[in-house]
Amino acid sequence: MSNTVKLFQPLTLRGTTLPNRIVVSPLCQYSAVDGFAQPWHFAHLSTFARGKAGLVFTEATAVEARGRITHACLGIWSDAQAEALRPIVEFIESMGCVPGMQLAHAGRKASTRPPFAAKGPIPLNHEDSATDGAPWQTVAPSPLPVADGWHVPAELDPQGLEEVRDAFVAAARRAVDTGFRVLELHMAHGYLLHSFLSPLGNQREDAYGGDLDGRMRFPLEVAAAVRAAIPDELPLFSRISAIDGREGGWTIEDSVIFSRRMAEVGVDVVDCSSGGIGGAPRFRSDDSGKPLTSDSARAPGFQVPFSRQVREEADIRSMAVGVIIDPQQAEEILQSGGADLVALGREVMYDPFWPLHAAETLGVDPDYQMWPTQYAWAVDRRAQIQLLNRLD
Ligand SMILES: Cc1cc2nc3c(=O)[nH]c(=O)nc-3n(C[C@H](O)[C@H](O)[C@H](O)COP(=O)(O)O)c2cc1C
Repeated sequence: MSNTVKLFQPLTLRGTTLPNRIVVSPLCQYSAVDGFAQPWHFAHLSTFARGKAGLVFTEATAVEARGRITHACLGIWSDAQAEALRPIVEFIESMGCVPGMQLAHAGRKASTRPPFAAKGPIPLNHEDSATDGAPWQTVAPSPLPVADGWHVPAELDPQGLEEVRDAFVAAARRAVDTGFRVLELHMAHGYLLHSFLSPLGNQREDAYGGDLDGRMRFPLEVAAAVRAAIPDELPLFSRISAIDGREGGWTIEDSVIFSRRMAEVGVDVVDCSSGGIGGAPRFRSDDSGKPLTSDSARAPGFQVPFSRQVREEADIRSMAVGVIIDPQQAEEILQSGGADLVALGREVMYDPFWPLHAAETLGVDPDYQMWPTQYAWAVDRRAQIQLLNRLD
């Protein structure tokens, strides 16, 4: 099978080969118990491996308990939590796909309620309950709440910074020991590491705040420490919010500079999302600080310009994400140099077999050879029956 379709060309990053360029974006499920993966996580993530996405990321997985967004978020601050993820890793590998983990700390956006329960921070006077649990003290670069009505985070002191950095390193080691072959650091969407980068989240006066160098310092230290702790052959990704889209916020020019610095400490791929530094949903702002209309925020590939610019100007591989829906659209992003990888979120939840369907649409897999063996022969038979019925 000759394959000029880029979407289905393998990509080798360090010693890890992704079988294609399709990535399942991290997707919080708010279904963990005490940070432990549940049967839902197995069903959810294994479905994408049956669908043959090249790289399947876990949801944002907290490196320490207070770094969870909600009580129901996945965690990897204990060996037992990592062990609970092992069957998922093994299944993804058995499908020829690569398991990845997004390591996260929610910072001042922690201690909230799952979106399908009730949005926003858990009220401080809230009684412990089965749905929300009790609120907890959040941490951040500066004691600035996300928005009115949010918890005031405690400012991390030098010892606190060290603890968080160590938690990222310990979590990365556990993830590697469990078999994850790609790690991504969550530096986007207003969570802890993003709030260090953005002047809107970071008003420190020590070496970890102030100018761009100061604000980049802690995220770069975390990246360098994680890089040093994991094997050389494993790729390290970083998800950034390429723009804050708010006056006085982080800009695409900052992202280019930061991406160059990340490359220097051994980050291999920059995953380009946007927004989230304030309380508003992240798809609502543009580079000039103007709110996007809801139409432009939903436009296909609206964040691709960020991944293209980072890729071109920072000389690092990039991943595009955000309303990538159509196989031809995804192929065009790769062919035109907009990104090295495409990540899908909502679309792949709608159709977990999106990669297999895309391969059929793009003529890469006319005989259903990519499908899991257990399905391939039957799906082929189904196609023949369809053909016969059309001829009749
Ligand atoms: C249900 C849901 C959960 C998400 N969880 C995460 C997450 O854990 N980490 C993250 O970086 N982004 C998360 N995102 C953002 C997605 O990874 C993705 O960037 C975003 O949905 C845009 O891609 P899409 O248009 O293909 O959905 C989530 C999005 C959704 C819809």
